[in-house]
Amino acid sequence: MCGIVAYVGKQNASQIILEGLKRLEYRGYDSAGLAILKDNEFKIAKQVGRVKDLITHTNASKIVGTTGIGHTRWATHGAVTEANTHPHISSCGKIAIIHNGVIENYYSLKKFLNVKFKSETDTEVLCNLIAHFYKGNFLQAVTDALSLVEGTYGICVMCKDFPDEIIAARLGSPLIIGASKEGNVIASCVSAIISLTDKVIYLNDNDIVHITPTNFNIINNLEKITPIIQTVNWKVEDSDLKQYKHFMQKEIFEQPTTIEDAMRGRFSADNSTCVFGGLNLTEQELRNVDRIHLLGCGSAWHASLVTEQLIEKYAQLPVDVDYAHEFRYRDMPISDNTLLICFSQSGETIDTLLAMKEAQRKRHKVLAVVNVVGSNIARQAHGGIYQHAGTEIGVASTKCFTSQLVIGAMLALYFARLRGMSYELGVQFVNGLKQLPTLIEAILQQHEHIKKIAEKYAHKKNFLFLGRLNLFPIALEGALKLKEVSYIHAEGYPAAEMKHGPIALINEHCPSIVFVNNSIVNKVVSSMQEIKARHGKVIAITNSSTPIPTGLADDVIIVPDCHEALQPILYTIVVQLISYYTSITLNLDCDKPRNLAKSVTVE
Ligand code: BG6
Repeated sequence: MCGIVAYVGKQNASQIILEGLKRLEYRGYDSAGLAILKDNEFKIAKQVGRVKDLITHTNASKIVGTTGIGHTRWATHGAVTEANTHPHISSCGKIAIIHNGVIENYYSLKKFLNVKFKSETDTEVLCNLIAHFYKGNFLQAVTDALSLVEGTYGICVMCKDFPDEIIAARLGSPLIIGASKEGNVIASCVSAIISLTDKVIYLNDNDIVHITPTNFNIINNLEKITPIIQTVNWKVEDSDLKQYKHFMQKEIFEQPTTIEDAMRGRFSADNSTCVFGGLNLTEQELRNVDRIHLLGCGSAWHASLVTEQLIEKYAQLPVDVDYAHEFRYRDMPISDNTLLICFSQSGETIDTLLAMKEAQRKRHKVLAVVNVVGSNIARQAHGGIYQHAGTEIGVASTKCFTSQLVIGAMLALYFARLRGMSYELGVQFVNGLKQLPTLIEAILQQHEHIKKIAEKYAHKKNFLFLGRLNLFPIALEGALKLKEVSYIHAEGYPAAEMKHGPIALINEHCPSIVFVNNSIVNKVVSSMQEIKARHGKVIAITNSSTPIPTGLADDVIIVPDCHEALQPILYTIVVQLISYYTSITLNLDCDKPRNLAKSVTVE
């Protein structure tokens, strides 16, 4: 999944494009490039590596012109080389293009075109397909080419014959227009344009837009579309590091506030349940729900697994959880009163978007828990809950994961109260939620202690994360976080499952991070004894009321006591800090880990 930015207006395009690409780099950072159209010529700069490498090692920032396109790449087709870096130019030299997405039938189109290709990319094929249809009508050529394309795209195209025009189009991949007096900017996401304007138009699937410095015309399946201009409340400083060294660190330490923001205005007047304004379902429709199906990918899937346990325990409502990409093709039976809910911080993950569409195709209502306002999944869901966690720039999800956990817990409380949980238990649950910011603050204050433990084990090559019940998904999340930002092999298991196989990994070189709490503590203690018996190191994470028997753990981290349903949130903060400090100790880039992207808009 890539980041794209284009500009046509009065200002110097390369400045605006490079600034935008820097803010989009979390979307893909294998290579970057831009092309400026001036004096009937494309001036191009490309560089393998980051946007800063493009600025340092090429003349990108010195290229002058008021019409341009730029791209930061997450490789799908073709290796990370300069030749495969966007923008691509057609073999006739007239057309330049940037693209986010995958042209699935690129191979057959490539054979049809019979031109000499300079790269291995699907995008260059589309570029030459547009050139193939170009007979002087720029818009017609793009429209004709796209009519043959299968797959997903967000594209911006320039043509030498039209120096002040850009044509953009989207199908599946996000694309927005930013309108300002200084010109029009097109980008994958608001963060790339917010320094220029807060007036945006979210493009829909099959929209093709013809853009000039002062105007833009949107058509969809040959129909003219009246644009809906929205004002976005993103703040530029959201993407500033402030006193922190890394976005991952900043976003971990923002969690007392982001958890507060996820709950703000969502408790009932009698403080015994939650209220959600955007579900777009009547209370009766919610009462009729007899099953819930949760969908997500990556950390969002882990948040679904915790939410499953809470809804089943507190609301006694059966819940299924699926990886969104598996659900899409599983064709499983879903009862009429099943409510589907997808979790996605970006709201752009295509696996989750298409799973939602598959359920909607079967006439099911799908709600969404999303962080990015105006994102695809948010706009196409039946209703939903915004996380209000602010921009998350660190590729490994932290604050957005815990705000998904909080919203999952609030949904569990909502359905529990709807289905008979007592007022008293409801008030206890709400009070537990309201204590979270303070309890998280107390854990963050232990960062020096946690840092020392992370440094002690940072050079180990394998880790096991072990937890029971609603802490098992946090074992999965802990293992994922460590993998994402330190490239150390780590696996998460229900603690009791360890003896059925993973115990084979245990020795003095494979530490185990074991989550201990007051429910079934003796069983977890037995797992720790089995590890110690094989000279394994144990890092125990427990809460204040559950002491670890002496000598059973090599290192201990204690989190404050809280409502049992909310323990997953507190234990998560600890594994986030362990992963962050391990990555830093190994001198790795925790914000832009290799091979990853913030949300993946290709299947
Ligand atoms: C991955 C991200 O690409 O997508 C993960 O690196 C994330 O951090 C996953 O959990 C799902 O993303 P989203 O936006 O759908 O929650």
